[in-house]
Amino acid sequence: MKRILVTGGAGYIGSHTTLELLDAGYDVIVVDNLSRGHRKTVDPKRLREADLLDTEALTRIMKEEPVEAVIHFAAYIAVGESMKDPGLYFRNNVAGSISLMNAMQAAGVNKIVFSSTAAVYGMPAVIPIRETEPYAPINAYGETKVMIEKVLTWFDQCVGFRSVCLRYFNASGADPAARTGEDHEPETHLIPLLFQAVKTGKPATLFGRDYPTPDGTCIRDYIHVSDLARAHIGAVEWLLKGGESKRFNVGTGSGYSVKEVVEAVERVTGKPVPHTYGPRREGDPPLLVANSTALQNELNWTPRDSALERIVETAWRWYNR
Ligand code: UFG
Repeated sequence: MKRILVTGGAGYIGSHTTLELLDAGYDVIVVDNLSRGHRKTVDPKRLREADLLDTEALTRIMKEEPVEAVIHFAAYIAVGESMKDPGLYFRNNVAGSISLMNAMQAAGVNKIVFSSTAAVYGMPAVIPIRETEPYAPINAYGETKVMIEKVLTWFDQCVGFRSVCLRYFNASGADPAARTGEDHEPETHLIPLLFQAVKTGKPATLFGRDYPTPDGTCIRDYIHVSDLARAHIGAVEWLLKGGESKRFNVGTGSGYSVKEVVEAVERVTGKPVPHTYGPRREGDPPLLVANSTALQNELNWTPRDSALERIVETAWRWYNR
């Protein structure tokens, strides 16, 4: 049985991917320091509590339990926080990732799937966005991901590391069987915040209604977390077969406005979403939609659960667990 090391496996996308790997017949060990993830989402016999910056601990783990490849999720993800405390982001996301790569090298592991983001593109000129668009991050979070994509390129060239960087658009939804789901503290993502508004009656704030979009609210490409998880399985299999390094967008190619998401939440929950409009949130591009034909063609991936209703319905089931 092939063993995969998942960093950040106690987090949102990491916990879904761990389940998907197990379902696909892989053995999995999870490295997490539980600073943002949840202990209860990981089978205790798989969890190795360690910090990414502890290169020696990571090396020891991979020497004691040899792995074929690493899927690296562990990172801070809040754009706003990254602008208030960039040092935290560069230390955890950049220094932490380099520490992990050093440990992989010491343990003789040279295949890695890396969680990247649409934030590497900033405000792209051409929509839908292709992987060939230039790096142009507009926040510190996006910059940390650009930096690691570049470090991975050098590790490939210099020491034969093979990597697949998956640039996620808007990860959303939850495991259809509600085994795991989204649980950020504090929550900043649209769909769970709309659920909170439904539950508490306290209005959600929609950021901006004067964008150059048909209804004036921002448009995003929402991708179901289980589809994202399956993209990671495809990426690992690609690397295990000896495939070269790649960078792929992971999205659906369809965009929905904030207002359309509100309406979908109202349909699924059967309740009105109390909301008000506030000013634009700094750093929000009006329109982000992926061209993900490269991933579809090269890794034979297709989104199965990413219809907006399906995303909202699975997230709502998890929210009410
Ligand atoms: N939004 C609101 N009100 C809220 C929260 C969000 O109107 O209370 C809006 C945002 O302005 C945005 C949309 O809902 O237009 C989606 O916002 P999210 O915060 O859910 O997601 P983002 O698009 O900001 O962020 C996602 C990922 C980031 C990544 C980014 C890339 O979560 O990690 O896409 O642009 F960096």
